Amino acid sequence: MKLIDFGVREDEKKYIQEWSKDNDVEVKIVTDLLTPETVKMAQGFDGIVAYQQLPYDEKIFDAMNEYGIHVISLRNVGVDNVPFEALKRNNIRLTNVPSYSPEAIAEYSVTGLMALLRNMKHMIRKVDQHDFRWVPDIGRELNQLTVGVAGTGRIGRAAIKIYQGFGAKVIAFDKFHNPEIDKEGLYVDSLDTLLKESDVVTLHIPSMGKGHTVINKDSISEMKDNAIVVNTARGDLINTKDLYEAVANGKLYGAVMDVYENEVGIFNTDLTDAEFSDQLLEKVIQSPRFILTPHIAFYTTKAVKNMATISLNSMMSELTKGTSENEINLEK
Ligand code: COI
Repeated sequence: MKLIDFGVREDEKKYIQEWSKDNDVEVKIVTDLLTPETVKMAQGFDGIVAYQQLPYDEKIFDAMNEYGIHVISLRNVGVDNVPFEALKRNNIRLTNVPSYSPEAIAEYSVTGLMALLRNMKHMIRKVDQHDFRWVPDIGRELNQLTVGVAGTGRIGRAAIKIYQGFGAKVIAFDKFHNPEIDKEGLYVDSLDTLLKESDVVTLHIPSMGKGHTVINKDSISEMKDNAIVVNTARGDLINTKDLYEAVANGKLYGAVMDVYENEVGIFNTDLTDAEFSDQLLEKVIQSPRFILTPHIAFYTTKAVKNMATISLNSMMSELTKGTSENEINLEK
């Protein structure tokens, strides 16, 4: 068996090399992203492993079919950048890593929220200028707030445990009820109710497709005054312009954004010497009421190791047994 792993970062290499040695399987490591041009490198290999935020072009899958490669394993969870139709017509199976570390993302959401509740960004900026005054950065305590968790999959549930540990009142919404959360009586009947009753709304749901936002002008008008939005899920869940305006005009307190609707090409890129043309994002960056980070909630040693090894395990299972526990149902 010969595998090829695309879009590999420096910090992932050692885990892939270790897996290759432990399993005695050749894995070619490629730093390039998977495109219609780079897919040519996969000729002669049995399976492709990849991670990228850039959409996967349909032509990649036509080429895979031509080369006789019928499995692609992603090192991440989100499959919103994969054209399922192209996979289906080329008879290609897809796996992802549904759970590499829900705790990494849950912990990060809470970290961002705590930083915002205590106005850390503004305070640190002031101290950098040798302004050591307290006022106006008085904080709020998590134990006095109602946190509304939208989405009770693995990440949402990990977040709930942490918030409960801090003594917050937690409410939750999900179309699909989890028995544990049901037993605790945390579910409210609708997303609207969650938005209305929460001091903090934290999103742990997948993308619903471009233009289908959960946080926008209309939903914001339903939210409590001074509420906070936390998003470590997908940027397109939020209309960023509406959110920015709601914070700027004082309706909402602020937001934690580890994802952004137009992040592709910006996040995880060094733009220090480039002209920065995204005016909206620039306003968000400048605002002390936005904690903005470049999609790093997942970025821990535990998660990165799991992403590298679980994707390879799934590939091995697909190639030896014809299926794996992480195979995605392309009909959904
Ligand atoms: C995912 O796993 O889909 C994520 O959003 C994290 C990614 C940046 C590796």
